[in-house]
Amino acid sequence: MAVSLQNRVALVTGGAGGIGAAICQGLAAAGVTVVVGYHSSREPAERLAAGLPLAGRPHAALAAPVTDSAALAALAEEIEGRYGRCDILVNCAGTTRFVPHEDLDGLDDGLFEQILATNVRGPFATLRALRQLLERSGAGLVVNISSIAAVSAMGSNVAYCASKAALDNMTKSLARALAPAIRVVSVSPGLADTDFVKKMDRSWRDEQAGRTPLQRLAEPHEVADAVVALASHLTFTTGAVIPVDGGRPLS
Ligand SMILES: NC(=O)c1ccc[n+]([C@@H]2O[C@H](COP(=O)([O-])OP(=O)(O)OC[C@H]3O[C@@H](n4cnc5c(N)ncnc54)[C@H](OP(=O)(O)O)[C@@H]3O)[C@@H](O)[C@H]2O)c1
Repeated sequence: MAVSLQNRVALVTGGAGGIGAAICQGLAAAGVTVVVGYHSSREPAERLAAGLPLAGRPHAALAAPVTDSAALAALAEEIEGRYGRCDILVNCAGTTRFVPHEDLDGLDDGLFEQILATNVRGPFATLRALRQLLERSGAGLVVNISSIAAVSAMGSNVAYCASKAALDNMTKSLARALAPAIRVVSVSPGLADTDFVKKMDRSWRDEQAGRTPLQRLAEPHEVADAVVALASHLTFTTGAVIPVDGGRPLS
């Protein structure tokens, strides 16, 4: 039976991105009031928040720079002040750049550290800032947007793959540490057909789809559907990694 999500409040980091925007749409459609967290995309985030289906209280677009712990503490205060609660945190912010895995010099220290700070420390720091609000919710849920690169070790670069493996591991530690008040789950997409991916070489995209048993890439809304399902239906799930990958690891 579905749990009603009316009156719930969610923060989605990277909320103006390809997958993040779909998650904001999905949560709002399910009745959740959404805080669209942005880093550099303030205007797209504000446009998105203004266009989301109204769920009760107005949605908001707020700065959520996940490598800045002081700003995250201020964000938690802002959310508490506006809404008095936060029930769902979706850690969707992530960064990467294509560097062939054999090009060790191409993955310099700065890029390596930026990827780990954003993709691993970022979700931790955001949860740390929101912990008290999530505990008070009575139904606290954290969803970490991971990637099948965590397991396949195939992805945009070596550090990105390692960062998603670390994120899945952290999902388990934190699910154990924060239970029963807060559930922590990873959602692990295969390649998703975002605008960014649509701009890539057609034959490469077709090849990726062809290697997927379901013969296509993930639609961003299918990642959002998994996030909503974790809040509304999969209420006894924590510490798990939920694949949204069309069976890609099978081939
Ligand atoms: N697309 C795929 O095929 C795919 C597959 C598997 C997993 N994923 C994961 O899905 C998530 C979203 O990816 P996407 O494809 O939607 O990429 P995207 O459109 O590039 O979105 C990434 C988002 O991360 C935010 N971000 C980057 N650095 C940040 C920082 N320091 N602080 C706060 N926010 C930051 C960006 O915010 P601003 O725009 O505001 O700067 C952007 O909205 C990522 O975690 C990615 O690893 C994607």
